[in-house]
Amino acid sequence: MELPLVVELQGRDRLEVTSLDPFKMQVIGCESLHQKLNLMKQSQGSDVSKWTLQTDQNHVSLLINELILKLQNKWNHPYPHEEVCHCRTVSLETVEQAIMNGAQTPEMVSKWTMASTACGTCRIDVEKILKFRFQNEI
Ligand code: FES
Repeated sequence: MELPLVVELQGRDRLEVTSLDPFKMQVIGCESLHQKLNLMKQSQGSDVSKWTLQTDQNHVSLLINELILKLQNKWNHPYPHEEVCHCRTVSLETVEQAIMNGAQTPEMVSKWTMASTACGTCRIDVEKILKFRFQNEI
């Protein structure tokens, strides 16, 4: 993975990595993100790419897991297109952001983004994206 690498929850948290050293990571975000990163630095050392994946499903762990997997070149996202729902013109980014903000089911993603609320053919893609995000935490 090429550096710098950025993972973010728009308008809330942003991690920019310019080196594998977590002490050089630029972090803008909530208190829980800073606390979690400090714990990870202390418990897992100075190479972010060797950190273990987190098992909880909050936005902080989702961001950290995305970062780890991208640094390990294991970020194999199952949906390769920019738009998930063509009926409602809902982008992949919008679906991803909803998931990181706490949408844990296809119904929640639909309610928050309008994806899958017309013909419904994109629901399977929403399910794949949810499964990908949450299975990476194990
Ligand atoms: S493509 Fe999403 S509801 Fe039709």
